[in-house]
Amino acid sequence: MKEKVTGLQNQFKHAEPQDVLSWFATSFNGKIAFSTSLGAEDQVITFMLASLGKQVRIFTLDTGRFFQETYDLLDVTTKKYSIEIAVLFPQTSGVEAMVNDKGINLFYESVENRRLCCDLRKKEPLKRALSGMEVWITGMRQEQSVTRSGAALIEWDDRNQIIKLNPLINWTNDMVWSYIRQNHIPYNELHDCGYPSIGCSPCTRAVQPGEDIRAGRWWWELPQNKECGLHK
Ligand code: ADX
Ligand code: SF4
Repeated sequence: MKEKVTGLQNQFKHAEPQDVLSWFATSFNGKIAFSTSLGAEDQVITFMLASLGKQVRIFTLDTGRFFQETYDLLDVTTKKYSIEIAVLFPQTSGVEAMVNDKGINLFYESVENRRLCCDLRKKEPLKRALSGMEVWITGMRQEQSVTRSGAALIEWDDRNQIIKLNPLINWTNDMVWSYIRQNHIPYNELHDCGYPSIGCSPCTRAVQPGEDIRAGRWWWELPQNKECGLHK
C-alpha cells in the first residue's frame, strides 16, 4: 500500500475534493473509513460523502467528554442525511484505571497526563476503527496549525499502516465556511460562540477575536505539543 502513495499524489495533484472522494470510495470500496469529530471540515466531508451516495464507513470517537452541542449535532446530521455515524467508546477498564489513579481532570496537570488521556480515549479506539481498512479520511487542513503545515492530500500513515486522505488539506477557513453556508450544512452551535475548533469540553475554550483558530484547544500547552496523537 505504501508504494501506491506517490502515484496517487501525482494523480490527484489538482483534483477537487469531491472527485478525490468519489474515486477513493469506489476504488477502496469496503476498505475506506472517515473519522468525524463533527467539526466544520468534517461536516463538509460528511455532506460530500452523503451527496455522492458512496459506501464509506463514517465513525466518531466519543471520548465521553464531548460538549452537549456536539452530541446534538451528531443526532441532527445522521437524521438530515439519513446516514449512520458509528460511535466508538474507549475501553472502560483503561479509562477507569486512569481516572481512579490520576483524577478526573488529570490532563491539566502535565503533557504526559494529557497524552495518556488522549491515548486511551481517542488513539486506542481509532486503532480499532481503522482495523482492516486501507484508507482513512480526515478533515485536517494545513492552515490549522504549525504541526499540520507539512501535511499532504494523500499520505502514508506509518503508525496505523494506512493511506491517509485529507481532502480539504489545502482549503482555507473561508472556503470551509462559504461551502457550509452555500449548502446549508448543519454545524456545531459553539462555532457561533467563539469556538472555531472544537474538541473535548474540558480541553477547549472560546478564543478572542484575532487569536489563532486552535488557540482554544489545550490552551495551557505550547503550540508544538498541541496534537492528541491521532495525527503526527
Ligand atoms: S485533534 O487531533 O486536534 O483533535 P481536530 O479536532 O483538528 O483534531 O480534527 C482533525 C481531524 O481529526 C478531524 O477532521 C477528524 O477527521 C479527526 N478527529 C479528531 N477528533 C476526532 C474524534 N473524536 N472522532 C473522530 N475523528 C476525530
Ligand atoms: Fe482527554 Fe482532553 Fe484528550 Fe479529550 S482532549 S481525550 S479530555 S486530554
